[in-house]
Amino acid sequence: MPQSNKPPLHIIILAAGHGKRMESDLPKVLMPLGGRPMLAHVLEVARSLQADAIHVVYGIEGDMLKDACDGADLSWVQQAERLGTGHAVLQALPEIPDASRVLVLFGDTPLVPAEALDALLGTDAAVNFLSMHPIDPTGYGRVLRDDRGQVQGIVEQKDATTKQAAIAEVNTGILTARAGALRGWLDRVGNNNAQGEYYLTDVIALAVEEGLEVRATLVEDADLLAGANDRWQLAQLERRYQLREAERLCRAGVTVMDPHRLDVRGRVQTGRDVVLDVNVVLEGEVVLKDGVRIGPNCLIRDAEIQSGSQVLANTVIEQARIGERCRIGPFARIRPGTETGSEVAIGNFVETKKSRIGTGSKLNHLSYVGDTQIGARVNVGAGTITCNYDGAAKHETIVGDDVFIGSNTALVAPVTVADGATIGAGSTITRDAPAGKLTLSRARQETVEGWKRPKKT
Ligand code: UD1
Ligand code: CA
Repeated sequence: MPQSNKPPLHIIILAAGHGKRMESDLPKVLMPLGGRPMLAHVLEVARSLQADAIHVVYGIEGDMLKDACDGADLSWVQQAERLGTGHAVLQALPEIPDASRVLVLFGDTPLVPAEALDALLGTDAAVNFLSMHPIDPTGYGRVLRDDRGQVQGIVEQKDATTKQAAIAEVNTGILTARAGALRGWLDRVGNNNAQGEYYLTDVIALAVEEGLEVRATLVEDADLLAGANDRWQLAQLERRYQLREAERLCRAGVTVMDPHRLDVRGRVQTGRDVVLDVNVVLEGEVVLKDGVRIGPNCLIRDAEIQSGSQVLANTVIEQARIGERCRIGPFARIRPGTETGSEVAIGNFVETKKSRIGTGSKLNHLSYVGDTQIGARVNVGAGTITCNYDGAAKHETIVGDDVFIGSNTALVAPVTVADGATIGAGSTITRDAPAGKLTLSRARQETVEGWKRPKKT
């Protein structure tokens, strides 16, 4: 809850531009960063500030934005025409009481750290904005200061003289001011500039004119405050984000073999002593418990892996739950609905789908197991296939505990192999196999006496 002696805080997120420079059908703020829309990242940091309200200014693509983010707590404001950042802020102001403090965030500046915003809100200047010194200032508004270093205004790159364009300090776009003052200044901002837009940045000079205190709060790490206007900037932001995620994981006790070769596109929860080898991609909601090791080139999406399990190189795991001390891969494909007990081994070129595999069972090579329940301590021989699909419907295979299935077996579902059964190699099992017995279905081997191999003439 906001403190009662402080003015109410209203956050305005500007998200109305389509973002022509992205060359995309998707609105810019929905372009993904770390697997989630940029806007979702901005909302996350906005929500962390405990504001009294969060206003999202959208353009013609409002429905897409609303669908993409869980926004029941948001106030949605339409900017029917894209007339500039100042005009966008004005659209939200009617809903905000004059005495409130307004914080403006940009939908295309998703990595702004909460600490930088705390610092910005920690002062009482009439206007306070975040500035930075990026390696390349191209495209940003330049911060104008007088001889004494006092901020005088912001000039957009397109309106800047050559001398102004050489200024290294730029505007991040993020600013705070009182709602009433902001309204007064924005009413006076014109659009007589290179882009014919109502610039939010023009309020700085107006506040200075009124003799008010204007501050620029410099943020050291410019990479985090970069705005993504095109896909190249977005790609750089993505790399910066991934590095931040890798650092976060390392600090939480994960060994990341190479922070530049890990991609987190969602949320990851990790235990102690987790090891992530190179080229691991973690997507959606991923839980890796204590001691889990993920080998090189693995994709893990929406999965939970229990303590002590190892995923070996080139394995794909999707919407699955792996038990404790399992060994999965190399080259395994674990598809949605797979659940394993502990100490399960799934080896190379094994595909599983919608199946439960009991504790201690092994599927070591070249198998397809779908719509199947496998008990404990089962050995599934190489090349075993569950024939679960008859062309119209899927059928279940049930395998009891302590079953041994010989290599190259086809289990034609629906079919049950009862506890302790053994299936002879090369069988096609179409009827239930009884418990504790050997069942096999294959032509008897024959040797033809007196047969002679034909000779070439
Ligand atoms: C803006 C700033 C610039 C700053 C840079 C930082 C202005 C005039 N310029 O430039 O000083 O250095 O950001 O990244 O503020 N938007 C709307 N409605 C509009 C126009 C824009 O909602 O009418 C939204 C966009 O969706 C975007 C944000 O405002 O999320 C910024 O707009 P953009 O066009 O990207 O501004 P820049 O040219 O990057
Ligand atoms: Ca921008």
